[in-house]
Amino acid sequence: MSGSRFDRLGGFFQRYGHRLYPRWVRRSFHTFVTRLPGGARVLDLGGGTGLLASWARSSRPDLELWVADPSEGMLAYVEDGIRAVRARAEALPFEDGYFHAVAIGEALHHFEDVGRALDGVARVLVPSGKVWVYDYDPRPLPGRVVRFLERLWGEPASFLPPNRLQAMLEERGFRSHVRLRGFRYVLVAELKEKASGRSSPSV
Ligand SMILES: C[S@@+](CC[C@H](N)C(=O)[O-])C[C@H]1O[C@@H](n2cnc3c(N)ncnc32)[C@H](O)[C@@H]1O
Repeated sequence: MSGSRFDRLGGFFQRYGHRLYPRWVRRSFHTFVTRLPGGARVLDLGGGTGLLASWARSSRPDLELWVADPSEGMLAYVEDGIRAVRARAEALPFEDGYFHAVAIGEALHHFEDVGRALDGVARVLVPSGKVWVYDYDPRPLPGRVVRFLERLWGEPASFLPPNRLQAMLEERGFRSHVRLRGFRYVLVAELKEKASGRSSPSV
């Protein structure tokens, strides 16, 4: 795996990364985490310095937390006690059905092949496993500006409108619910169990 342009940004993200998460997004993540079963295994995917995993640990110390990210420079800042794995979302090195939940914060638009990454997410989740995603809608003006800047920086800028992401997840057996505020959105999804009649999870 070649070096990443994030390799030099670990210190920056450790210090300022939380500023990318408005309070309502943090609350949504907190709610998501508090509803997980005892001892659940959780993957912070594209997790960088492990910000989401750290937040999860502070409210749920019983969880088994993992961070997967291709950037060694980001992973170097993952807290002790949280497992860090150098990996791309498109090639997850985990066994089928290992995780109870996957969280993707501010990272989905960096994946080169979102479809392949979502195939992997579905594969590594248990039946009725949960997904939490925080990302930007590329349709409103601020979203278009962010996409433009990311492309200038040489990133894939795979920004998806939330309804497109929902459709891609549905194709892979998930039902989902989106909360959109301006150009930011949070999506919570659940991998459907066969013949189950559950309703959409709340954000
Ligand atoms: C903006 S940072 C967000 C990091 C962290 N989730 C946070 O909120 O602080 C985006 C992260 O996506 C990672 N990334 C880039 N391409 C990726 C890929 N194909 N698979 C997984 N992660 C990737 C980068 O290395 C970087 O750590």
